Amino acid sequence: MLSQDTILNALKAVKYPGFSRDIVSFGLVKDISAAAGAVSVVLQLTSPNPDAARQIKAEAEQVLKQLPGVSRVVVEVRQPAAGQTGAGALGSQNKIQGVKRILAVASGKGGVGKSTCSANLACALRQLGASVGLLDCDIYGPSIPLMMGVYERPTVSADERLVPPVAHGVKVMSIGLLLTDDQPVIWRGPMITKTIHQFLLAVAWGNLDFLLVDLPPGTGDAQLSLCQTVPLDGGVIVTTPQEASLGVVRKGIAMFRKVNVPILGLVENMSYFTTPTGQRVEIFGHGGGREEAARQNAPFLGEVPIFTEIREAGDRGVPVVVSAPNHPAGRAFIQIAEALKRKLG
Ligand SMILES: Nc1ncnc2c1ncn2[C@@H]1O[C@H](COP(=O)(O)OP(=O)(O)OP(=O)(O)O)[C@@H](O)[C@H]1O
Ligand SMILES: [Mg+2]
Repeated sequence: MLSQDTILNALKAVKYPGFSRDIVSFGLVKDISAAAGAVSVVLQLTSPNPDAARQIKAEAEQVLKQLPGVSRVVVEVRQPAAGQTGAGALGSQNKIQGVKRILAVASGKGGVGKSTCSANLACALRQLGASVGLLDCDIYGPSIPLMMGVYERPTVSADERLVPPVAHGVKVMSIGLLLTDDQPVIWRGPMITKTIHQFLLAVAWGNLDFLLVDLPPGTGDAQLSLCQTVPLDGGVIVTTPQEASLGVVRKGIAMFRKVNVPILGLVENMSYFTTPTGQRVEIFGHGGGREEAARQNAPFLGEVPIFTEIREAGDRGVPVVVSAPNHPAGRAFIQIAEALKRKLG
């Protein structure tokens, strides 16, 4: 006899296209029945994307057919009609009242400078006259408080919303502001989902032109929770020029495309280093970001060289666009912010 658990276990091998999580943990399996070698399952997707449905159906059928004793498999995939959910929708998404645009800063790979770019772009957009919020969605390794120099705890408003502290004119929220000391976060997926949901919907963001969201590396819980909770206006992809980073960047781009989030463009960070004697050293190679953008048919937003000033500014809590706006490092971020602003109007 085939048990529900056996079937559910088998379905855990099917990943949601573009994500590293499986359809069972996303809660997409709605019904399972099995009798006399025939298995029938119902999957309920929250996205109208027909490619995702086709792929999930084919993979689910394949894994179920391989179970011993199964002779017939029926996989029914239900989806909302296109247009029924908002643009870029993956689930039941909510607009954040007062927030005009939500942009995610992402990459597949760790340590390529996402948080550095998020902090600098947030401050640069502020300098260009926009009202800006910066949300740190890195629950395990929040670095935005350090980079923005924020240490005060958020207060709670009369209507029980978290009030984000303001640094360099930017409203900031991060798990790092809520935890004490160096407590490690050992939460599992559902807690991350819940926290990100609250960061988006239970924070008094007020009126913002842009809410920038700094993502952890990878294509896991934080990315999916973000895409499911609010409609994203676009993703900014940060990469270093070398192939090791570009390979994972492709996954990041594919993930956004699967959930219909427009790719606003690629930033090549750590493009090159100039020695004190003026010699240019291309530590990670150079130009890979621009080439990949062309290959992916995505805009190239600009390159940011390696500057000690960028790292020092981040460690001091005053992003380089604030501490040295006229330094080439500051200018590089301001140019990228201008390109983004032009794109988004
Ligand atoms: N262009 C640059 N020049 C010099 N240092 C840089 C540059 N970009 C980033 N750094 C430094 O590299 C380190 C990693 O950057 P950052 O934390 O922004 O990466 P990340 O992609 O957010 O990492 P994670 O994947 O851990 O979230 C930081 O110490 C940062 O100051
Ligand atoms: Mg980071």
